[in-house]
Amino acid sequence: MEFPKEKKEETYRSLLPQIEALVEGEADLTANMANVCALLHTTFGFWWTGFYRVMGAELVLGPFQGPVACTRIGRGRGVCGTAWAEGTTQVVPDVELFPGHIACSAASRSEIVVPLWRDGEVIAVLDIDSDRLATFDNVDRTWLEQIAALLAR
Ligand code: SME
Repeated sequence: MEFPKEKKEETYRSLLPQIEALVEGEADLTANMANVCALLHTTFGFWWTGFYRVMGAELVLGPFQGPVACTRIGRGRGVCGTAWAEGTTQVVPDVELFPGHIACSAASRSEIVVPLWRDGEVIAVLDIDSDRLATFDNVDRTWLEQIAALLAR
């Protein structure tokens, strides 16, 4: 079932202080990524929610919730590699229309990928997949960028 669009804003607003509290009490990035993706995934019922970390020339799979996923993605490859290379959030309403989209799961229909910045560099990306078309919009972008900033600081 799709999360009701009219509830998204208030739901993100209520998540933010929970995430702040989680992150303030723990300095380890992996532990914080694990809790943040669990919180987002269970709250919104996404298809796949997780992180890829920049490791040299590739993104490497980090903490996630959902089905098994590809472990390594090159810079500029797919939606994740594009978010990393361009340093911008990618909102993809229909993954079949995104050139080079990497289909880790055939059920994925739309996607958002948000870079995490530290000291002027992208250190990871937050990737969320939906099994519905056009799940993500500017509301998701705005709040997920704030969550990414909280995690990376
Ligand atoms: N679809 C992504 C790959 C990662 S999976 O969605 C978990 C991409 O094109 O980068």
